[in-house]
Amino acid sequence: MKIGPFAIVPTRRGQLMNVADYRAGARRRLPRPVWAYVENGADDGRTTEANARAWRGWEMRQRVLAGVRGVDTATSVAGDELGLPILLAPIGLAGAVRGVGDLGAAEAAARHSTRAILSTGSTHSIEEVGRAATPGGWFQLYPWGDRDLTGSLIDRARAAGFGTLVVTVDVPIVGNRLGERRYGMNSEPWLSPDVAVRYACRTGWMLDAARHRRFGLANLSEPGRRGGIAESVRRHAVAMRPDLSWDDLAWMRDRWDGPVVVKGVLDADDAVRAVDTGVDGVIVSNHGGRQLAGTLPTGRALVDIVDRVGRDVDVLVDGGIRSGSDIVAALALGARAVLIGRPWLYGLAVGGAEGVSGVLDVLDAEMRRTAHLMGVSALRDLTRDHLVRVESEVGELVW
Ligand SMILES: Cc1cc2nc3c(=O)[nH]c(=O)nc-3n(C[C@H](O)[C@H](O)[C@H](O)COP(=O)(O)O)c2cc1C
Repeated sequence: MKIGPFAIVPTRRGQLMNVADYRAGARRRLPRPVWAYVENGADDGRTTEANARAWRGWEMRQRVLAGVRGVDTATSVAGDELGLPILLAPIGLAGAVRGVGDLGAAEAAARHSTRAILSTGSTHSIEEVGRAATPGGWFQLYPWGDRDLTGSLIDRARAAGFGTLVVTVDVPIVGNRLGERRYGMNSEPWLSPDVAVRYACRTGWMLDAARHRRFGLANLSEPGRRGGIAESVRRHAVAMRPDLSWDDLAWMRDRWDGPVVVKGVLDADDAVRAVDTGVDGVIVSNHGGRQLAGTLPTGRALVDIVDRVGRDVDVLVDGGIRSGSDIVAALALGARAVLIGRPWLYGLAVGGAEGVSGVLDVLDAEMRRTAHLMGVSALRDLTRDHLVRVESEVGELVW
């Protein structure tokens, strides 16, 4: 929001009207290093930007006099009945944004009858979230370390009551996240005096951080101990799996007795192979542009993948979803549901669980309004016929 030369940063709930408002509020509250962690993509950030742009490559067909009384948003994903086709994407170190972190996400998701997918890199442990969240939740697995470590994470998630396993396959090594490296937010954290000042300037964040002290990877700490940064980094460094392969996915599939969803697929041949391995769902994702810079935006990759495997399994998508019309476009292209990553972190930064819930409220209202004005009374009825591809002035298709 900008009026004249002054930027007005919305802070109260009534002023937060869209995801961009929440983003502005988060930017004001977070210290620069944490903001860089949340916001930056790999290398020059081109794929993060391309993700958001891809959804605008479609226009909606407006159909009038359709007699729509309300819009049904319910869906089922990998057998899980949800009130909204929006899940909260797994996010590592959410507690560094605001201490309530993963618990805040779980609370907001429950309010909206949807799921917050708990990251392996969470700042609250699998057991803490399992106790607080609705049973049958979704746990995201980074296949870290040897099979003993991965297997123990799988067993812990099952014992804590999680129902769906999301295996993230697009991080065999970490992408070149310049923002994180510049401010010491990467796998070798450091703190220089000028970076320390950037933290100290954000007093609201400092007070919350001092109170909660949720910076470590809770699932890699000794049982009963809160993970500190140094310990987490040490454990994480030995745990990366550069040689991750299809055999590993097959092993994880066998080891989990519920639905398995694979996250981080961009190529239709890989999607077919994942389905052959026995997964129940595929998440089309490029990790919010944080891994391979220059790869396909997800809105573009989605179409081929739906065409190849959409009849066999549920296809989900994330990356650059910032409005209800982005969601409507994704569903019309064949996605069963979407995940949002950064938008829920903006909400968390601005207002904890209440803020995350506020972001879901905004997207829910936008999605319903968009569908209603298109003459659609249930989101599951959306098809590609509801969209028109945008053409540039010289007649090229715009992505
Ligand atoms: C700060 C941050 C941390 C993330 N941590 C994880 C993670 O631990 N596991 C994972 O599978 N994906 C992780 N992701 C990727 C998200 O799950 C999701 O794919 C991505 O954020 C979607 O793009 P969007 O932020 O544009 O919505 C992370 C993304 C961000 C921005």
